[in-house]
Amino acid sequence: MNRHHWWRDAVIYQVYVRSFLDSTGDGIGDLAGVRAGLPYLRKLGVDGIWLSPFYPSPQHDHGYDVADYRDVDPVYGDLDEFDRLVASAHRLGIRVLLDIVPNHCSSEHPWFREALAAAPGSPERARFHFADGRGPDGSEPPNNWHAMFGGPAWTRVTEADGRPGQWYLHMFTPEQPDWNWRNPEVADEFDQVLRFWLDRGVDGFRIDVAAGLFKHPELPDSPDPEADARTRDSVNPLAWNQPEVHDVWRHWRAVCEEYTARDGRERLLVGEVSVPSAREHAKYVRPDELHQAFFFDLLGAPWDADAFRKVISEAMQDIAGTGSTVTWVLNNHDQVRTVTRYGEPAEGSGLGAARARAAALLMLALPGAAYIYQGEELGLPEVVDLPDDVLTDPIFRRTGSRARIRDGCRVPLPWSGQASPFGFTSGAEGAKPWLPQPEYFAEYATHRALADTRSSWHLYRDGLQLRSALHQLGEGTLRWLDTQPGVLAFARGDDLVCAVNFGTAPVPAPVPGTPLLSSGPCRPGELPGSTAAWWIDGS
Ligand code: GLC
Repeated sequence: MNRHHWWRDAVIYQVYVRSFLDSTGDGIGDLAGVRAGLPYLRKLGVDGIWLSPFYPSPQHDHGYDVADYRDVDPVYGDLDEFDRLVASAHRLGIRVLLDIVPNHCSSEHPWFREALAAAPGSPERARFHFADGRGPDGSEPPNNWHAMFGGPAWTRVTEADGRPGQWYLHMFTPEQPDWNWRNPEVADEFDQVLRFWLDRGVDGFRIDVAAGLFKHPELPDSPDPEADARTRDSVNPLAWNQPEVHDVWRHWRAVCEEYTARDGRERLLVGEVSVPSAREHAKYVRPDELHQAFFFDLLGAPWDADAFRKVISEAMQDIAGTGSTVTWVLNNHDQVRTVTRYGEPAEGSGLGAARARAAALLMLALPGAAYIYQGEELGLPEVVDLPDDVLTDPIFRRTGSRARIRDGCRVPLPWSGQASPFGFTSGAEGAKPWLPQPEYFAEYATHRALADTRSSWHLYRDGLQLRSALHQLGEGTLRWLDTQPGVLAFARGDDLVCAVNFGTAPVPAPVPGTPLLSSGPCRPGELPGSTAAWWIDGS
């Protein structure tokens, strides 16, 4: 490779704006709060931030229901505050990615309101998927697709004359109508939206549901609608991963390149791509498409050496093998946090916390880019006991089950102090975070983490520092080393060996000497259970 592209081994921090830091005292995080937190992120050593959606939205899905793609919701600030945030981030060397939501908008979006007011067959309706129902009176949905968040993927509208009329498609909630990407007006609109934000200086976009957008042109029945509904993954083969979507990413890449040609700054497109295999995934990161796509198989792997080895090997072969880099992720705003996920079923034993730290060190040693979700660096567990009446996830409302709900990983961050709101909100006494914080969050507050060199925060900070010292850690491949069962070890060039003990009993370390960095205390020559370590050449 002739030139290093910053994004190939970047570490990006996901800011869930609503829960990061509240500057106004209303109990909801905001853009000014993010700006106030930048020095903290600079200290941590990340290359950039991805901001979850802050656009005007009725918040049926916390901003993933966008009513206006070119503004800031007053709850989060305004465009001037946004500009200040980007300027401050850039001064600190932190790049800024926005979250763009092209698969669907909000039912409050002006174009959808126009579509509702217009007649069947009108150009206004052609921007979405409107169709007549089945059955003699059209009272059955046009096909059998399920929505991802429960219930059918179609909702019937009432026409201007007051009679029940056509149906519209929404792969998530009814408040999130899907755009019709076969209509060129939609593509043009998004082209303009990208340029609007690029002109304001952003460094790129995280693309929501990037395997979505196009549906099978005839919207036929799904062969197995029950399977489509079983997980939150995009499995309906007629609704996701249609070949036409790749043309959109080629176009968006060209728009980014156009801006780079003007000012030399490389922009980054990272897709949320849920597809059935690493090979399918690789298609999204071909050289003229997205720069990155989250590789979710690592996140989905159980705490097991063979499972980790399998998904890592597949990614290296099928994705990195094509010349792209792999984008690793262990946590995000949709998933149970690693500390809790790896702790099950023995929760409370500290095992989950130890494993989460080990997994983080493993992720940071892998070739490619990595994303950290806010609070992960603090070792925050999932809040599993939020009472029903505070839950806001539409999945809970639509399925009536807590099984897949996401509020528990979105509880506002603790910054300082011994009691909620732990410095999260600057509001007067009594100001309440939008989701209640448990008392034990005191142990994880950033002030405490920074002061304690054994904290997860220090592990992440040290790992990030070493990554940048080992120039271009994101490039190249890895070589598996022979180990006993239950242990993974790999070398990265001549520089680094990383080993992880997935078991609970200590094993002989694969490298002599004391590791330079480890996720828990290590004696020379030994790798304790649930621990990862790095040995650096010459250390
Ligand atoms: C993505 C987002 C998720 C959102 C969904 C619908 O999966 O990460 O939070 O609910 O898309 O936009």
